[in-house]
Amino acid sequence: MKSLESSSRVIPAILMLILTVAAFAAIWLAVKPAATGATAEVGYGQPSGAPAIGGPFTLTDDAGRTVTEANLVGEKYHLIFFGFANCPDVCPGMLQLMAGVEEKLPQTTREKLQFVFVSVDPARDTLEKLGAYVRGFSPSFVGWTGDKANIDIMTKNYLAYYAIGTPAENDDPTIYNVDHSGFAYLMGPDGKYITHLRSSDSAASLQAGLERFVK
Ligand code: NI
Repeated sequence: MKSLESSSRVIPAILMLILTVAAFAAIWLAVKPAATGATAEVGYGQPSGAPAIGGPFTLTDDAGRTVTEANLVGEKYHLIFFGFANCPDVCPGMLQLMAGVEEKLPQTTREKLQFVFVSVDPARDTLEKLGAYVRGFSPSFVGWTGDKANIDIMTKNYLAYYAIGTPAENDDPTIYNVDHSGFAYLMGPDGKYITHLRSSDSAASLQAGLERFVK
């Protein structure tokens, strides 16, 4: 009779445990999809803590005018992407993606947004070539570049990475690759960093990110 007596205490305890776990699981299931859905819908959030992205730079726009961090201050948001015109994949992919997203943005959002393509390959990307390249994707896009020292200052301030590759030996010295990071930095009308978008993201995700922050 002793074993029956002890199991009469153990079984309700196990039942209570199962019910508790089931209750927590139900709560978790009820909350989890909502949270995941919100993240997937918006795509971007501001990282916690103050990210030290942005800062001084001096470049030249494709019209030949000097541009600095002061040019980011005004009415528009700027979406700044670092790359190079000879890029075989990431840059044309991102420019194509952004051109498509731009068309889908509400007009008020579109008018407040300036997409900037910063070439980290000034040896090949002349201002003329750069302007023609970016506007081949959208008439609103602009290109900026500068000498290596100034590009290095800006990429360092934006935590962007790039590395000019070495041309193959005994081959055309103008044929080389440039490795670079694939983030587009959204800067507010105050010239300060808001968030970054990823070139690997979907058009819907990029659009949601822009619509969330460009007000
Ligand atoms: Ni590229």
